[in-house]
Amino acid sequence: MRAVSWEDGACVLLDQRRLPAEETYLRLESSIAVARAIGDMVVRGAPAIGIAAAYGAALAYQEEGGDRAGGIQARLRTLLDARPTASNLKWAVTRVRAAAEAATGDLFDAALREACGIHAEDVAMNHAMGRLGADLIDAPCAVVTHCNAGALATGGFGTALGVIRQAYANGRIERVFAGETRPWQQGSRLTCWELARDGIPVTLLTDSAMGQMFRRERPRWLIVGADRIAANGDVANKIGTYALAVLARHHGAKVMVVAPHSTIDPVTPGGDSIPIEERSGDEIWAISGLPAGLPGALVKNPVFDVTPAECIDVIVTDRGLAQHPDCQKISWLLEDDAGDSEKLSS
Ligand code: MRU
Repeated sequence: MRAVSWEDGACVLLDQRRLPAEETYLRLESSIAVARAIGDMVVRGAPAIGIAAAYGAALAYQEEGGDRAGGIQARLRTLLDARPTASNLKWAVTRVRAAAEAATGDLFDAALREACGIHAEDVAMNHAMGRLGADLIDAPCAVVTHCNAGALATGGFGTALGVIRQAYANGRIERVFAGETRPWQQGSRLTCWELARDGIPVTLLTDSAMGQMFRRERPRWLIVGADRIAANGDVANKIGTYALAVLARHHGAKVMVVAPHSTIDPVTPGGDSIPIEERSGDEIWAISGLPAGLPGALVKNPVFDVTPAECIDVIVTDRGLAQHPDCQKISWLLEDDAGDSEKLSS
């Protein structure tokens, strides 16, 4: 299954809003269409958003016919504004723009080459993180995950689900507990679907059943992805992650965040500076089966939260581990020579 691909001059996206009922693919031939698809959640998950935006940026260079100034900035801006929290989006668009600006020949060719490179690198990074993270799980156990940080959220294999896939193959995972992840249901619609297809034992719970589950089942790890990692190691991820991290600590389970270095934003000093996307309250009314808001009731729909670095045991990246993350360890992961996945920080 491929969430994003480039096929015959178009960005092709698996429409994740329709899963698991239907596997429908949308063929997008303009940068605006890609931006709209990102905003509308056709594609979601920080790395997959970045890859789709990279292909969208390549389309922008094609649409502007090689004009180095002109409308290209406006098209790239539309992509950058599609969703505010995932730092992979800005990282990918910036890389494609730099490649096109440095090109001596056709700008579209250079932009598309870079986008394809970003896509291929993401898959390789996921496999590297899968190995590193799985090695941390030293005995067969149950684990918890949240939202969907799998193949659907990335170029393939997944970040948190990449670790889970590898650890299961190593005989270190007995069961995965996944919360629904209201209101978009990424946990029930996407994570359960992915894991069940791979034959990995998964149990679905409502988000509010997690406290009871921690008491009864004693999972050893909470394993999640990230949308943005601030310079001090604070992590923005799907709403509900912070509560799960606090629960995990209370019950003696460890917290593992798995994300490629493209998710680290060294310019954002800490979690309080991370822009948290707020989506329409109608999403909450809809999942509750209510046609519209109730008069007099306010609704708030923040779709990410921040887990402070002190609640995280380890951040697993393609460039190594940051155990008990802090500013120094995060900046170390971004050093030019930090490409060796054997490097460990403690
Ligand atoms: O709103 P979404 O579905 O884009 O949110 C996705 C998440 O929060 C994921 O956990 C995160 O992007 C990591 S995906 C590898």
